[in-house]
Amino acid sequence: MSRLIIVSNRVALPTDNKPASGGLAVGLLGALEQSGGLWFGWSGDIVSGSRAASGPLVQHRNGVTYATVGLSRRDYDQYYKGFSNAMLWPTFHYRIDLARFDRKEYAGYRRVNNLLAQQLIPLLEPDDVIWVHDYHLLPFADALRAAGIRNRIGFFLHIPFPAPQVLTTIPPHEDLVKAMCAYDLLGFQTHSDLTAFRDYIEREAGGSVAPDGTAKAYGQVVRGGVYRIGIFPDDVAAQASRPENRKPVLELKQGLAGRKLIMSVDRLDYSKGLVERFRAFERLMEMSQSRQGDVSFVQIAPPTRSDVHTYQQIRERLEYEAGRINGRFSSLNYAPIHYLNRGFDHRMLMSLFRASDVGFVTPLRDGMNLVAKEYVAAQDPADPGVLVLSCFAGAASELSGALIVNPHDIDGMAEALDHALSMSLPQRQARQRENLAALHRYNLGAWRDDFLTDLYACPIVAVDATDSAVPQASASALA
Ligand code: G6P
Repeated sequence: MSRLIIVSNRVALPTDNKPASGGLAVGLLGALEQSGGLWFGWSGDIVSGSRAASGPLVQHRNGVTYATVGLSRRDYDQYYKGFSNAMLWPTFHYRIDLARFDRKEYAGYRRVNNLLAQQLIPLLEPDDVIWVHDYHLLPFADALRAAGIRNRIGFFLHIPFPAPQVLTTIPPHEDLVKAMCAYDLLGFQTHSDLTAFRDYIEREAGGSVAPDGTAKAYGQVVRGGVYRIGIFPDDVAAQASRPENRKPVLELKQGLAGRKLIMSVDRLDYSKGLVERFRAFERLMEMSQSRQGDVSFVQIAPPTRSDVHTYQQIRERLEYEAGRINGRFSSLNYAPIHYLNRGFDHRMLMSLFRASDVGFVTPLRDGMNLVAKEYVAAQDPADPGVLVLSCFAGAASELSGALIVNPHDIDGMAEALDHALSMSLPQRQARQRENLAALHRYNLGAWRDDFLTDLYACPIVAVDATDSAVPQASASALA
């Protein structure tokens, strides 16, 4: 069996006292353990230019090999903070108002992709299969191909892929999509993401999409598919009912003094719709006097990317909103919003989900949103909470038992909260069964195995007489 090489911007390197706990890391590690291979990417450290160029640090942990590299300050600023997170992230989440383009940053983005590719190449073997993850690395296969690498290379985009009208606001959009076509297989979270990519190929790139979904553009052939990322629901259920967490959960319940609990957990990101969510909770209080003092809302939002200006802005805005709403509705022994800017142990979060009455997950745009899936898996089937979910999260197409809301409709979200808080037990159980069945139908293992099966089935790239790379099986079609 070919070795698997996973490439991602961040590498989930387990430490002695903190094993990999996030679902994605566990899923990918499972694949690495089966096939051998390694996980390659940025260590998360900013280092001197000479150290960044000195080659990857290779480490073995729990039977898996990790190869990590540091980034110089300039590379971090241009590639990660700049083009990836100040241009691609907002644009791919339909926030072109927050996007900021800088040519130097784009050059840095391409340069770091080349640099990372150069660092990976000495570690590669001829029949390794390479699986690259997320928007930081759109041109990674292009960089490998330019260096003569002919292995199968697949890419999975964890975030949305925007419609051409939005994508084309990125000045080098054509260069980016052309580079994406150097992959053998492109994986998207939802059909609308895949459709957006195909629309670009047909309408902007002058390419074509065959009935089997294969796209041809810029003299290249690339397959595309939808692979909805999932979780391992039984593992989450086990974490949620850990006896170790009983004490903190009891303490939380005591503090609530019989009040209902609405819970949300997100990275502190403007794509998560937190301002709208706070306002919807405020509207719930306004709508019904009886809800005042009767329900608490816990929002956990650990800060990320805090050196990017737009993230500083959203943080200030939320502090203002939480303070304002609490000022309005608090009493001496009650504060409606508990807004916590710190991370929690994943297993503890799952127990908190289980103890809550409503999971409130309302991103303005999200590739999939695994928190929504984890919320469902963490519930007690005998007395489950209700998921209120944004129609703009990829998960909405699967979780038909959720109350689906438009996160721009504050009244609609407040009504959904009210409905969720007063739903009967049989209704909650029926919705829970429906959602849980969806999680089991397509779990994280199915996502991973489907993607890898399709990637292994891609024809190996051959080099023709003119030295342009063409997949063997499709060479005649291209000629
Ligand atoms: C999103 C992205 C991931 C990223 C994560 C954390 O989920 O899709 O690629 O790793 O956010 O963001 P950070 O910038 O801290 O790596």
